[in-house]
Amino acid sequence: MCVWNEGRKGGGVFIVIEGLDGAGKSTQADMLVERLKKSSFDAVKLKEPTNGRWGTEIRRIAEEGREHLSPDEEAELFIKDREEDSRLNIIPALSAGKIVVMDRYINSNAAYQGALGLEPEMIFKKNAGFPQPDAVFFLELTPEEGLRRVNQRGAANAGFEKIDYLKKVHDIFNGDAGGFKKMIRIDALKPPEKIAEIVWQNVAPLLKK
Ligand code: TMP
Repeated sequence: MCVWNEGRKGGGVFIVIEGLDGAGKSTQADMLVERLKKSSFDAVKLKEPTNGRWGTEIRRIAEEGREHLSPDEEAELFIKDREEDSRLNIIPALSAGKIVVMDRYINSNAAYQGALGLEPEMIFKKNAGFPQPDAVFFLELTPEEGLRRVNQRGAANAGFEKIDYLKKVHDIFNGDAGGFKKMIRIDALKPPEKIAEIVWQNVAPLLKK
């Protein structure tokens, strides 16, 4: 149960886009925000890990190697980042009636740290007090294709992106732990415009003018 959601006021809508690295989440988040703004909605794009204190620490670790962290410590860092993000960004935006489009959120926590051996349901429980999304999209592609795309663009996340690890992450995303069953799944190999249209068809009914 989400403590904050119970008293949620202000009429904001919370959309999350999930998927493996390389799935096109950021592109879709941008396209959705743009379309929302064109339709006169006050929309904001956020992402986790953030560029805040904890997010910066996470990126430093991703570049240098995560070996000295236990899975619990790693999960805890993402949760601290989420706590800060909720307090400073998500809750104020939703309370002001904005539409928040988030690139990665709790499901990434459950899948990526679950793949280190933690129980996904336990991770969902630890995240239960944060604002819960109104819709979560999952851009689906194989770990091999995700890694190929990431390598092509020379991204800096090497520490988090080994193929065996990504296969475990992928399996967990496709498992039936609570937060994964409710995701709206879209084939990430479809053209970006087509994906954006499917996203829009699902978001439009959630919008109140
Ligand atoms: P990014 O490439 O989308 O910025 O994400 C950086 C990495 O962080 C990515 O490999 C997924 C990972 N991640 C987690 O491991 N746990 C989390 O809770 C989140 C939000 C991201």
